[in-house]
Amino acid sequence: MSKQEQTVLITGASRRLGLFNAFKLLQVGYQVIATYRTYTSDVAKLEAAGAHVLQCDLEIKENTYRLIDEVKQFTSSLRAIIHNASGWLADSQHPLEAEPLESLFHVHMEAPWLINRGLCELLWNCEETADIIHMTDYNALRGSEHHAAYAATKAGLESLTRSFARMYAPDVKVNAIAPYLIIMNEGDRRMAAEDTLRIPPMGLEPGESVIWQTLEYVLNNPYITGTTIPVDGGMSLS
Ligand SMILES: NC(=O)c1ccc[n+]([C@@H]2O[C@H](COP(=O)([O-])OP(=O)(O)OC[C@H]3O[C@@H](n4cnc5c(N)ncnc54)[C@H](OP(=O)(O)O)[C@@H]3O)[C@@H](O)[C@H]2O)c1
Repeated sequence: MSKQEQTVLITGASRRLGLFNAFKLLQVGYQVIATYRTYTSDVAKLEAAGAHVLQCDLEIKENTYRLIDEVKQFTSSLRAIIHNASGWLADSQHPLEAEPLESLFHVHMEAPWLINRGLCELLWNCEETADIIHMTDYNALRGSEHHAAYAATKAGLESLTRSFARMYAPDVKVNAIAPYLIIMNEGDRRMAAEDTLRIPPMGLEPGESVIWQTLEYVLNNPYITGTTIPVDGGMSLS
């Protein structure tokens, strides 16, 4: 089966890593279904480049159900699902506030759970071994002083990685990629300026291509499942 006949679903493709990797998937020949929450000029460019784009706010369960139906209407087979969508939300200062834990639970755990189960037949229909890839975070295992809800829900996603890998072998490989800082956002710049950001042995801000290299490695390797691959510049050494 050529790549042109293989479809990859990637969530959160409106910007940064999701956008970059959706373009890369198109470039190497996959058909791409890319989800976005907010339509931007970059989503328009992705659409013009050939991606099938679908709007979905993954915080809302009914929207996730609709997304599952729309993917099924578009294709009967999936080569891979890449769960990239994520909210980098700081914890609330209010002690009795459940946000952002609730909303991050929906995006980081509930949506992957529903999508992996709702679209499993499409993965099984792929002639090759299919893949599910969860984008998690270095902080999932380490924990975080100010992003505890983010870290906890990413840790939950890492646990789901191992469970789905058990459930779906040998037809589907299920792995997580756990990056440390890949591209800074404004909060990171402030932390770097205040010198509270830990600098990995390999230095700062490698850019999106290191994640694309890891995605390609996972997609092309038939013997990796149930793992979390750190892309962290050697943070485990510090
Ligand atoms: N960049 C890094 O250095 C880094 C480090 C560690 C881990 N990661 C992980 O790598 C992945 C990509 O990182 P990134 O920095 O490119 O992320 P990002 O800039 O925060 O973008 C996240 C994407 O998810 C979408 N999204 C957020 N909430 C959503 C919701 N409720 N429903 C649907 N889509 C939603 C965003 O859409 P909108 O544009 O509409 O908000 C955006 O397209 C994430 O899973 C992140 O946790 C990244």
